[in-house]
Amino acid sequence: NRSADLVIVANRLPVDRVTDDDGTPSWRPSPGGLVSALEPVMRANDGAWIGWPGGTETGMRPFTSDGLSLVPESLSAEEIEEHYEGFSNGTLWPLYHDLVAKPEFHREWWDAYVRVNQRFADRAAKIASHGATVWVQDYQMQLVPQMLRDKRPDLRIGFYLHIPFPPAELFQQLPWRREILQGLLGADLVGFQLPGAAQNFIRLVRQRVGHKTHRDLVYLPDGRTVKAAAFPISIDVDGFEELAASESVAERASEIREALGNPDTVFLGIDRLDYTKGIYARLRAFSELVRDKHLAVGEAVFVQVATPSRERVEQYRILRDDIDRLVGRINGDLGEIGKPVISYLHSSYPRHEMAALYRAADVMVVTPFRDGMNLVAKEYVACRLEEDGALVLSEFAGAADELRQAWLVNPYDINGMKAALRQAHDAEPKEIQRRMRAMRRTVRERDVNHWADGFLSELAATRPDHGKKV
Ligand code: G6P
Repeated sequence: NRSADLVIVANRLPVDRVTDDDGTPSWRPSPGGLVSALEPVMRANDGAWIGWPGGTETGMRPFTSDGLSLVPESLSAEEIEEHYEGFSNGTLWPLYHDLVAKPEFHREWWDAYVRVNQRFADRAAKIASHGATVWVQDYQMQLVPQMLRDKRPDLRIGFYLHIPFPPAELFQQLPWRREILQGLLGADLVGFQLPGAAQNFIRLVRQRVGHKTHRDLVYLPDGRTVKAAAFPISIDVDGFEELAASESVAERASEIREALGNPDTVFLGIDRLDYTKGIYARLRAFSELVRDKHLAVGEAVFVQVATPSRERVEQYRILRDDIDRLVGRINGDLGEIGKPVISYLHSSYPRHEMAALYRAADVMVVTPFRDGMNLVAKEYVACRLEEDGALVLSEFAGAADELRQAWLVNPYDINGMKAALRQAHDAEPKEIQRRMRAMRRTVRERDVNHWADGFLSELAATRPDHGKKV
């Protein structure tokens, strides 16, 4: 069944198999930026998407969901522990995010990572048509490009890393650093969020693998070249604008403000509950402003949505407990009856509710310690149709390269964050509009189609002699 001309290989399918309390299985959209960016691209290109459907169910057959052609690749309980929770999220995730948490190195985790990558590569090799394009996604799948090339040299292979790629000083801690670089070099084009990440990669390939490089190109001994470049990811701007403009979202936004007691200023944070996101530091900064009476209880409220994520990984459990305790303490110390300081929601919401929250918020607070891009910042901007609303954004999010008119902060600097929150809160409407207007222009110009077209056309331009033979 070699049938697909475009194949996406990602750790996850865009839908996640969940089991309700009473044991009934159902599907829900998968969390995270990768899925939200790729879904519209897949719709436009009619490709097949290989990924883990969540859970441990085996033997699921390919199926179509909402017009998308999905190919489930199951993970055993042991693989979930060692490949997904272990090597992907206990080793690579913290290592690639500046050691915000301490990575663990275990040989069994690595072995499982190799096994799972091989299985995903084998599956892609089976379903890709002759000369097809295979686009491999993210840090969980870095060995797939070379594994796939070994079996199917006819394919055009792209790889895109959604998270940061660390500087050599950190990457070299990895006992399997050479294998990962070799895996990525199986691609014709390796894409990153930012130019600095592409440079880190090129430098490492030169130093660790010993290949010749020139600017953004790597020259392999067999005559092949690999290009490494930046393609900052984005969102479905038209989709978000349309949603934000709908009456039901506008109504829901007023309902939300009303439910909060019609405060003057709604601050908002929306994140996966992840230690890279800087949730704890931001809530502390906000609460100190309330404690010191720069902001008044009831007049200002902070809504923090934390989407459950990787809940069996220890560092995520610890984070959850820390945030639970902090929110409890802040509300206990500073809140009044019917007037919490922080409205905390540990839950995931559909796009409609997210758009309503974006519309309801006066100040959006995005303060990761390190983030590949951060699409929440761009979604907020897209939903501010009236050119109002302030964005407080970490310098360490990829999005800060484009959204220069945000109030930029260093999330390690609590006083600096307090100052930025106050400035965003006190800014004149004209100033807010000037900034938002400029950011809206940027986001509109470079939407997710611009990202995908940019990557795929660059990929098509590599090895032009190598097109699909009809
Ligand atoms: C980030 C990663 C994605 C990942 C998502 C959700 O956006 O770049 O690869 O899918 O987080 O995380 P999860 O572990 O639930 O897949």
